[in-house]
Amino acid sequence: MHFDAPSPFVQGPLLQRIVDDLADKGWSQQDAFLPDALIAALAQECRARDAAGKLATAAIGRGEGQAVREGIRGDRIQWIEPGQAEACDLYLAALDELRRLINRTLYLGLEDFEGHFALYPPGAFYQKHLDRFRDDDRRSVSAVFYLNRDWPVEQGGALRLYLDDERSLDLAPLGGRLVIFLSGDFPHEVLPASHERLSLTGWFRRRGDAPR
Ligand code: OGA
Ligand code: MN
Repeated sequence: MHFDAPSPFVQGPLLQRIVDDLADKGWSQQDAFLPDALIAALAQECRARDAAGKLATAAIGRGEGQAVREGIRGDRIQWIEPGQAEACDLYLAALDELRRLINRTLYLGLEDFEGHFALYPPGAFYQKHLDRFRDDDRRSVSAVFYLNRDWPVEQGGALRLYLDDERSLDLAPLGGRLVIFLSGDFPHEVLPASHERLSLTGWFRRRGDAPR
């Protein structure tokens, strides 16, 4: 794998647009967030992990209340950790750049990032929810990065973001697109798709107490 741009290879103006959007409206969508070669490497990593049986059916909630309920979400996930794969490390570095800019300009005090690959088989969905646990409000900013290179809108699989009681937006999971939103402010859902849908989804977290 070879990348022409130096690290950090996300451009300052793009990061600045995200921060401006977060300040203005609480969410942002940016296309071509990373170079095509890196998007392809991340998609390949996600598919390889799935082929090796490492992606597991996602659970709802935390701790003892944790349960697999496919009626609510049907994706398979695996958490990413530093040092597992170059592509993942480059993604984490890009998001850390964003985290530090958000902290410098919006003072959100974001301390770290946790994220996982997610693979939705055809027909899978994730019902309307908020990215917050009842017993843990550290998740502050959600970041979803899409990995399918081609995604005709007819394939479905949109992220439906509820702006308020009357308005919602459908954002297609197009490869290279990064969607960022304030975790506590936007209920959202993933609509079913006709094709396998890949993403890297995660959360910037504030300092706080872990749940007991
Ligand atoms: C989630 C989620 C959105 C998406 O994993 O919590 O809402 O578009 N994902 O994959
Ligand atoms: Mn969510």
